[in-house]
Amino acid sequence: MKRLENKIVIITGASSGIGRESALLFAHEGAVVINVARRAERLQELEQHIKANGNHCFSVVGDLCDPSTMQRALDLALQHFGRIDIAFNNAGILGALKPTHQISQNEWENTLDTNLSANFYAAQMQLNAMLKQKNGCILFTSTFVGHRIGFPNMAAYAASKAGLIGLTQVIAAEYGRLGIRCNCLIPGGTDTEMGRAAVDNEQAYQHIQSLHALKRMAQPQEIAQAALFAVSDESSFMTGSTLYVDGGISVVRG
Ligand SMILES: NC(=O)c1ccc[n+]([C@@H]2O[C@H](COP(=O)([O-])OP(=O)(O)OC[C@H]3O[C@@H](n4cnc5c(N)ncnc54)[C@H](OP(=O)(O)O)[C@@H]3O)[C@@H](O)[C@H]2O)c1
Repeated sequence: MKRLENKIVIITGASSGIGRESALLFAHEGAVVINVARRAERLQELEQHIKANGNHCFSVVGDLCDPSTMQRALDLALQHFGRIDIAFNNAGILGALKPTHQISQNEWENTLDTNLSANFYAAQMQLNAMLKQKNGCILFTSTFVGHRIGFPNMAAYAASKAGLIGLTQVIAAEYGRLGIRCNCLIPGGTDTEMGRAAVDNEQAYQHIQSLHALKRMAQPQEIAQAALFAVSDESSFMTGSTLYVDGGISVVRG
């Protein structure tokens, strides 16, 4: 038995990194994946790849800051299958990397809109569908940045991602009795486009690796494996949790 057999899953940020690897893994585990991101060619290539392996996949191209993008993904799920089992709200941006006093209103709002508000509106829509079916599972992707460790130049990113942890806990408390679980991943430094952008030279890359207990960055497949656990029935008693998949960066001192 596959771990997500016949589950209908929306994955945001599926055009690269953690989202892409999750889409491949979830589809391999039997899910019908509905992949969402802005880059159409990337989603098309992913869809072809998943279908070539005999699995089921749809693509929804759009900016998640516009709530109509998530609405299209949900409409697709509901029209084809009559339900949405799992939503992995994973898309995110680093935003402007600069000291707090230099972040413009526009930069702050862009990061908060993408990383927090878009996820809030997405979850509202997903909850409306999940409430009708009386089950469902929502997973967000937060970060260690600003949670256990302050990192310079990342105020907007840290604040937006900390907001997801609060959102996770409130959704878990509100909807648990109605059969809906909600959890949040805390990845460590991960070797993706974002991970490489955050550390733009070899020295910084080595430094970030050294901050982890495991003395390396994660591969996105390793984060996808944790996401699989968090959305599968194997974690059926887990809700309101922050799941650390951070190579120990949150606990290392010195
Ligand atoms: N890499 C790390 O070290 C690390 C550590 C902790 C947490 N995280 C979190 O993990 C998640 C995935 O990041 P990643 O490392 O896999 O980075 P990534 O490869 O840059 O992926 C980010 C994804 O988000 C999508 N996205 C961004 N803004 C969007 C928007 N407005 N509308 C639709 N899609 C949007 C991107 O797709 P398009 O550009 O095609 O739209 C892309 O698929 C993020 O939430 C990130 O904050 C990453």
